[in-house]
Amino acid sequence: MAKTVRIGLLGFGTVGTGVYGMLNDNREAITRKIGLQVEIVRIGIRDTSKPRSADSDLFTTDLQSIINDPNIDVILELMGGVDPAASLVEQALLNGKHVVTANKELIAKHGSRLVHLAKSKGLDLHYEAAVGGGIPIVQPLKHQLAGNDVIQMMGILNGTTNYILTQMEQKGSDFSDALAEAQAHGYAEADPTNDVEGFDTAYKISILASIAFGKQVPIDTVHREGITKVSKLDMEYADSFGYRIKLLGIVDAVAHDIVRVRVHPTMIPRTHPLASVMDVYNALWLQGDFVGDLMFSGRGAGSHPTASAVVGDLVDVGRNIFMGGNGSAIPYDEGMKTVNMDDLESAFYLRLRVLDRPRALGEIATVMGAHEISLAEMQMRTLPEVAGDTTQRGEIVFLTHSCKERSLRDALDSVSKMPMVTDVAALIRVESNVL
Ligand code: NAP
Ligand code: HSE
Repeated sequence: MAKTVRIGLLGFGTVGTGVYGMLNDNREAITRKIGLQVEIVRIGIRDTSKPRSADSDLFTTDLQSIINDPNIDVILELMGGVDPAASLVEQALLNGKHVVTANKELIAKHGSRLVHLAKSKGLDLHYEAAVGGGIPIVQPLKHQLAGNDVIQMMGILNGTTNYILTQMEQKGSDFSDALAEAQAHGYAEADPTNDVEGFDTAYKISILASIAFGKQVPIDTVHREGITKVSKLDMEYADSFGYRIKLLGIVDAVAHDIVRVRVHPTMIPRTHPLASVMDVYNALWLQGDFVGDLMFSGRGAGSHPTASAVVGDLVDVGRNIFMGGNGSAIPYDEGMKTVNMDDLESAFYLRLRVLDRPRALGEIATVMGAHEISLAEMQMRTLPEVAGDTTQRGEIVFLTHSCKERSLRDALDSVSKMPMVTDVAALIRVESNVL
């Protein structure tokens, strides 16, 4: 029987230090729950000049030496990115080591292949921390909810962007100040473009869809828009209509084995449970055919919540080692069928800047109507004059009834060519039919 579970840690940043701290602080409870001691025997990093909060003898920049060390049972991959993480994880599995990772990009792009490899070797490959930080989402989807046909999933899956949107809405903060705060808290990715442009949410929602529907969603089929165009003004208009703007990852089951996966800023009714998820909190709202509506929520990023998910996976692996189990990785194949956005049925929020002329509103409504877009609500205001320019300008804001995305795009194409329309300033999808 194995003795101590010996761990090789790849990465000692926000998550790695959190895991190290948790394994030290809660050592006794973790040992009791696994039935074995756990010991970090090596830590791989890149930069030897950084101060570290662990014994300097543990550190190495030679990551190969960790994954080739025959005395190491489990690799915790907490580096991020695909290169070199993918080849290190693959080699670790080939060397007979269990793997726990927090790396959503790796799993979104190579999950199927790596989990099949783990399974073929009788090893574990777990990735709870890759989605939703400290919230247990991946394991419940794989296990307790597996009997359901999932009808829809909608999630706030990125702590950085939810923090930014909350700060902008509640404190009037500027985007860049709020992002800097999220980075200081350790929420953001090494390159925060991944957060604010929606890549991180795209990886996470594609992982959830892959588990829920049993096939890997090709990541390049996920429609992706970030939050960089969301303005405080649009948040105020959203509020006046009874909505709040959130960056959502959404999976629509289009047919039995066909999904549409999308990430974009979305207006949701303020009464919807997702609308009250603030700051770094994440949430996944799910509708299953038997379970009905369900929502998971908790801290979606940060050192301690993420460490909680990584250590939870490690305890699972440790128990398998203790019990002599042969791996509980759940594989899924590649090749999920997906559809694009053209046939999406949604309501839309539109903000147009116009020359403030008689009949402007009526003419725009007529063009929209010609494309079968019917308007549900409208607000209009005259904009303050700009110095040296006597032209009267105005702003028209519409909420449409539900329509096909393709029709809306065609209508906007015509509207934007009208002489009185100077700018389509905002276009945001509205989830008006939820709850
Ligand atoms: P981080 O703070 O940037 O830390 C990354 C660590 O990996 C650093 O210790 C870095 O070494 C090391 N590293 C990166 N590339 C390396 C390379 N090529 N060779 C050797 N070492 C390398 O990142 P993090 O926030 O902890 O995130 C780690 C992973 O967890 C990512 O996949 C991320 O998406 C995921 N995740 C993060 C959070 C969060 O809240 N931060 C939450 C959930 C999941 P140096 O220290 O020498 O620079
Ligand atoms: N950068 C990610 C976020 C980390 O802000 O949600 C957690 O995956």
